[in-house]
Amino acid sequence: MNNFIYDIPVKVYFGENQLVHLGEELARHGRRVLLVYGGGSIKANGLYERLAAEIQRAGLELFELGGIAPNPRIDSVREGAAICKRNNIDVILAAGGGSTIDAGKWIAAGACAEHDPWDFFTKRSPVTKALPVVTVLTLAATGSEMDCGGVISNLETQDKLARMAPVLLPKASFLDPTLTYSVSVYQTACGAADILSHIMEVYFNMEQDLYMLDCFMEGMMKTVIKYAPTALKEPANYEARANLMWASSWAINGFASGGRRQAWSCHPIEHELSAVYDITHGLGLAILTPRWLAYCLDEATAPKYAQFGVNVFGIADNQEPMLIAKESIARLEEFLFETLELPRTLSAVGISQESFAGMAQKACGGRVIPGFKPLAQQDIENILAMCW
Ligand code: NZQ
Ligand code: ZN
Repeated sequence: MNNFIYDIPVKVYFGENQLVHLGEELARHGRRVLLVYGGGSIKANGLYERLAAEIQRAGLELFELGGIAPNPRIDSVREGAAICKRNNIDVILAAGGGSTIDAGKWIAAGACAEHDPWDFFTKRSPVTKALPVVTVLTLAATGSEMDCGGVISNLETQDKLARMAPVLLPKASFLDPTLTYSVSVYQTACGAADILSHIMEVYFNMEQDLYMLDCFMEGMMKTVIKYAPTALKEPANYEARANLMWASSWAINGFASGGRRQAWSCHPIEHELSAVYDITHGLGLAILTPRWLAYCLDEATAPKYAQFGVNVFGIADNQEPMLIAKESIARLEEFLFETLELPRTLSAVGISQESFAGMAQKACGGRVIPGFKPLAQQDIENILAMCW
């Protein structure tokens, strides 16, 4: 295994009513707060009033930017950065799902830069400074609440680009599972698929790493498979929402990856799907992941699938690894497309085969994704064809 550095300094306030600490937490970072939020769910479910009340109680000044879209746009980042500069904002409060939090992070960086925020992505401008970000998570999915990444879309260029930088790590995140009770069945399912994918991108790996981390990831996958169906049937089930929420954060906060260095495979492909077709991130991953696994299956990789099938789905281990591997992919498909009821194919969500070559070329940057199995453009086109 490789050496690694573990450093996740995000203060997490987990549980119901932890928002009573919001004012004191924000006040640690300054007095002028920019509240960033999405298309209106926080107004519909009463969260907006609670946040405004906490900010007022702490004697802080509230500014706001609503309307952050799913697959957040660079235009919103530009607008938020300009508001920060105009009003000497001290701290960003991002309240929503991954899109809002990602936008909040890049607004925080844009506020400290003289150049256009899109330059962070296209020109790789250094990300050395950002305003402090505090998050209130309302959807268990991306893990943005506990990682230093953010993904931003540019509709004009049909680009959706991800970048990580330590200064983007939230200072604190509020994880109250009751705030996810209002998430729709569809978004709950997509979020579960995203959490699973974050784990699988690391778990399906040819590099040797700690047995302990494999056990951790298997436990996390079992958690999602156990609790997502409960959350779909009983949206206000605290135990289910709490398990999904904490799994969301831990799937991608860097702990599970240990010293593994291999690249992720499905995420760069999915980002092209949502860049061109603006589909939900977790849905794209649900369609891609079992087909990617099927594409990568051979005698060399089969034992890892067998370990997954036995430890996560409880498949009997008295069979050939290849048989267990195939059954485990079938069980994963059953979970995603029957239990979570997500659409099974790209054609079902209106994606055309004509765009496969272009998306595949962009996903691998014209080179090879050095993942579980190296994927060149033709491999990605083949996987997309399997999804169609
Ligand atoms: O915009 P509002 O009105 O808030 O509604 C949202 C949105 O329509 C709604 N929603 C969120 N919380 C809700 C709620 N509706 C009712 N009740 C609530 N409590 O759900 C819809 C989707 O929200 P969004 O934030 O887009 O979803 P998600 O959390 O899945 O974020 C997806 C974005 O994050 C990126 C994705 O690519 C995508 O752009 N990712 C970010 C990552 C990161 N920062 O580390 C990693 C991920 O792999 C991912 O790429
Ligand atoms: Zn994801």
